[in-house]
Amino acid sequence: MDHTMLPVRRGPRPTTTGREIPHDQLDQFSPPAIRDALLAAAERLDGVFLGPSQVSEPASIALRLRRPSGPWEAFLHPSRDEFGHVHRAGFLHLTVPDSWVAPLIEAGWAEPHPISRRPEWPDTIIMLYAPRDETELEIVAEVLRVSHRHATGASSDSTPSNTAAKETATMRAIAFADHGSAPEPHDLPIPTPAAGEVLVEVATSSVNGFDFGVLGGHLQGVYEYEFPVVLGKDFAGRVTALGAGVSDFAVGDRVFGVVMRPTLGQGGFAQYLAVPASIGVGLIPDTLDDDTAGALGLAATAALNAVDAVAPKPGETVLISGATGGVGTIAVQLAAARGATVIATARPGDESEHALRLGAAHAVDFAALQAGVRDVAPNGVDGALHLAGDGAAVSSLLVEGGRFASTMHFAPQRPDIVATAVMADPDRATLELLASEAAAGRLKLTVTSYPLAEFGKAFADFGGGTVGKLGVRI
Ligand SMILES: NC(=O)c1ccc[n+]([C@@H]2O[C@H](COP(=O)([O-])OP(=O)(O)OC[C@H]3O[C@@H](n4cnc5c(N)ncnc54)[C@H](OP(=O)(O)O)[C@@H]3O)[C@@H](O)[C@H]2O)c1
Repeated sequence: MDHTMLPVRRGPRPTTTGREIPHDQLDQFSPPAIRDALLAAAERLDGVFLGPSQVSEPASIALRLRRPSGPWEAFLHPSRDEFGHVHRAGFLHLTVPDSWVAPLIEAGWAEPHPISRRPEWPDTIIMLYAPRDETELEIVAEVLRVSHRHATGASSDSTPSNTAAKETATMRAIAFADHGSAPEPHDLPIPTPAAGEVLVEVATSSVNGFDFGVLGGHLQGVYEYEFPVVLGKDFAGRVTALGAGVSDFAVGDRVFGVVMRPTLGQGGFAQYLAVPASIGVGLIPDTLDDDTAGALGLAATAALNAVDAVAPKPGETVLISGATGGVGTIAVQLAAARGATVIATARPGDESEHALRLGAAHAVDFAALQAGVRDVAPNGVDGALHLAGDGAAVSSLLVEGGRFASTMHFAPQRPDIVATAVMADPDRATLELLASEAAAGRLKLTVTSYPLAEFGKAFADFGGGTVGKLGVRI
């Protein structure tokens, strides 16, 4: 189709004239299936990546080019990366060739974007109305292709197969090249999602003890290392592509979780990550921010699994050793919410006060563990979570028949207690339960966030002892 053959658009126009798309009209335009089809058409364009808009409201999906292959006559934003975006109700803000602007407006498909009135912006930026049905979708998808050709300088239409372009595109990642090498910034190929996987554009991740295990080579024999190995067991971001057979998630979904790949290679400290959709991925509630979501996955799952293993009943006493760490700060809240009397280990001062604020009834200095716990629970504790410190000392404080759970692979030599070795199991239901608790404010995460460039400081601070989680913004 060319601009001389545009059909006239029928029906009401949105009340946008002269200003941005008003967001109170969200329900009135593209039905979700039509908008999804529009995003899928965008995803099929050569070299186009979908992700949260950098220039519009974050819920709108940007059409981004990592490698423009030709001169740009116009672009939505001088970043030279985002040539358009799709709003929540399907409206597209796009740049189009000059020859298309008047015909689109005259046929009732678009109007000028208000920003194009400013002299520093091209007058080829349009607001294209959201398609309401399949017929309109065809026209709008065609204009989208025209815009894409305009942005890239491509001479011919190239709808399917953007795989080759994506395989050669690179991303920033923090990885280590071999055993014994230090982690450092790398440019690595953007992964392609295999069958059953989703590709996530990562916004945040966080530091876990697991990263130190990976880096120290301690997981040899458990996992295969595929160098360069990217660090980061947690992630939060947005789905930008689906591997074959994935139907539980859609492009544009905000997701978070735990990297559950069968080998070590990809991680959350990278701009993109392909993860299995069947385990370790959950949706982020709208009201939960990326910093929290990116710090939640492994620690909160381990905390919930450990508390479930000990299954405290109201009024029972539970000792949490390592209560001020990533897992511990969450475990304290989960155990207290079940009515347990929580005894938290914490250094005196700020750390103790923090544990008490999270719901612990007592804070005990781990330098004098036995005396401190016996002071408040002379007969011993009903349950104990071993997240740090000496497992034998922690388990010795349990009453006969008490329940013990360790995230540190410690097996106590006490046949009279029930001991569980916790391996975090981040299934979707668990992740989404934890996320909804966090979104509702019932679960509070203390997250200190670092930019990716300061990952070294985040690692050093983790080793040095901090309260709660250390997040990394990609
Ligand atoms: N099995 C699994 O699936 C799984 C999942 C997640 C985590 N983990 C493991 O669980 C452990 C806890 O993880 P995390 O992320 O919470 O680590 P973390 O953030 O480093 O927390 C550890 C906490 O323990 C405190 N601590 C240090 N020495 C202690 C002692 N002797 N007694 C009591 N507390 C002490 C630290 O306090 P200071 O900061 O004051 O030093 C810190 O707050 C790690 O070993 C991690 O590898 C296992």
